[in-house]
Amino acid sequence: MRKRTLLTPLVLAAVTTAGLTIAPPAALAAGPDISVANTKAHLDQLQSIANANGGNRSTGRPGYKASVDWVKAKLDAAGYTTTVQPFSTSSGTSYNLVADLPGGDTSSVVMFGAHLDSVSVGPGINDNGSGSAGILETALTYAASGQTPRNHVRFGFWGAEELGLLGSKYYVNNLTTAQRSAIKSYQNFDMIASPNVGYFVYDDNTAGNGIRDDFTKYYDGKGIPWEYIDVQGRSDHAAFRSLGLPTGGIFSGAETTKTSAQASKWGGTAGQAFDACYHRSCDTNTNLDLKALDVNVDAIGAMVWAYAAKDYGTTPPPAGGNLLANPGFESGAVSWTGTSGPITSSTSRPAHSGTWKMWLGGNGSTASENEQQTVTIPSTAATAQLSFWGRFDTAEVGSTVYDTLKVQVVRNGVTTTLATYSNVGASATWVQRSFDLSAYRGSSVTVKFVATEDSSAQTSFVIDDTALTTS
Ligand code: PHE
Ligand code: ZN
Ligand code: ZN
Ligand code: CA
Repeated sequence: MRKRTLLTPLVLAAVTTAGLTIAPPAALAAGPDISVANTKAHLDQLQSIANANGGNRSTGRPGYKASVDWVKAKLDAAGYTTTVQPFSTSSGTSYNLVADLPGGDTSSVVMFGAHLDSVSVGPGINDNGSGSAGILETALTYAASGQTPRNHVRFGFWGAEELGLLGSKYYVNNLTTAQRSAIKSYQNFDMIASPNVGYFVYDDNTAGNGIRDDFTKYYDGKGIPWEYIDVQGRSDHAAFRSLGLPTGGIFSGAETTKTSAQASKWGGTAGQAFDACYHRSCDTNTNLDLKALDVNVDAIGAMVWAYAAKDYGTTPPPAGGNLLANPGFESGAVSWTGTSGPITSSTSRPAHSGTWKMWLGGNGSTASENEQQTVTIPSTAATAQLSFWGRFDTAEVGSTVYDTLKVQVVRNGVTTTLATYSNVGASATWVQRSFDLSAYRGSSVTVKFVATEDSSAQTSFVIDDTALTTS
């Protein structure tokens, strides 16, 4: 076992102090924890709405409008600006509910959507109460988090998906040219808690799309096997995709039968549908895999946090602001890429502030770990400075360098090492380090931390509260 397993801090301290070689850990979860209990409570509420309205929440029936009203009230109370957009269908009037979080650059809008309607024969709790409840709970958590989004964040709850993706098409067709070009990406969540679950990632990598790879990276980090699925026109991302926008999403499976290969990697029952109640009256609030719901709402959370902060090359944040996203690691590994595991809330080492930090090294065995983030330093800045807090402790003795931490900047593929720290002189007190990056104004730069350890005696390089600021 290595440092990031669930050993008690005391045992762990003993092991690392002795400098023993210990085995690799399970990958650590990334991103905020979106409450699965709250998400399930939203699904129970949607079930009650169906029960009170003839057993369904379908377009043109009262259970749909009641669903819209209930979700709207939740979002309004959390500070969202909501718009109900009516449109007509052959089954009667339907509505899209669009929720904007005030703030962020309105010329770069990141969107997350789910259809809120059910089919007419049932309450539609997995399809698509699950996606709706998932984005709702994430929207509420994001608004309460105190994050300052770089981009403008918008959630869409679509009507009449079950009648042919009507709501999302209506929304897209009624955008002005300016509104359309402001939307930078769209992510779709249609069925995320199928009872005989599969973990599918939309196989859409067009339009310079990082979304697909971000989802697979998320599942990799959780140790969950995933498969691509070619969903093409089967849900509400299609209207956005037809605009040429980057789109993506996840899906837990519908009427298709699970193969034995899929059952061996995901559990569940081979030879049965991923959701045997798909489009049936039995798609109720017991037709759910709550473990899948938990994993997938956290995936939504990771993506909302990451895309809210993503650099689309539009308006830079004001001078004095921190260009680095998630600089104190309190959102987990969000916005940082590299080795799975070092960004941690483990109590075996302190954070400089909050509970999360980046703990590179500390393995006491031969390993190299890195974390990095790419930002653009505005050419208009007068100066640019990188800083971070570091706390380094070691089980090495003597004056030979065995374990190192390099702080690097990469521009156009050229790596510059700003500083190298090692076991020699490591001291377990917090020290802030700063570097002048003014020479990098006007460039896209990757800030990179790389730790390398030899075969025994750990050195822990703990980093927190990073900043890349301009004046
Ligand atoms: N859009 C389908 C429905 O609501 C579900 C689905 C989503 C199927 C994604 C395939 C892929 O019935
Ligand atoms: Zn659906
Ligand atoms: Zn459906
Ligand atoms: Ca922290």
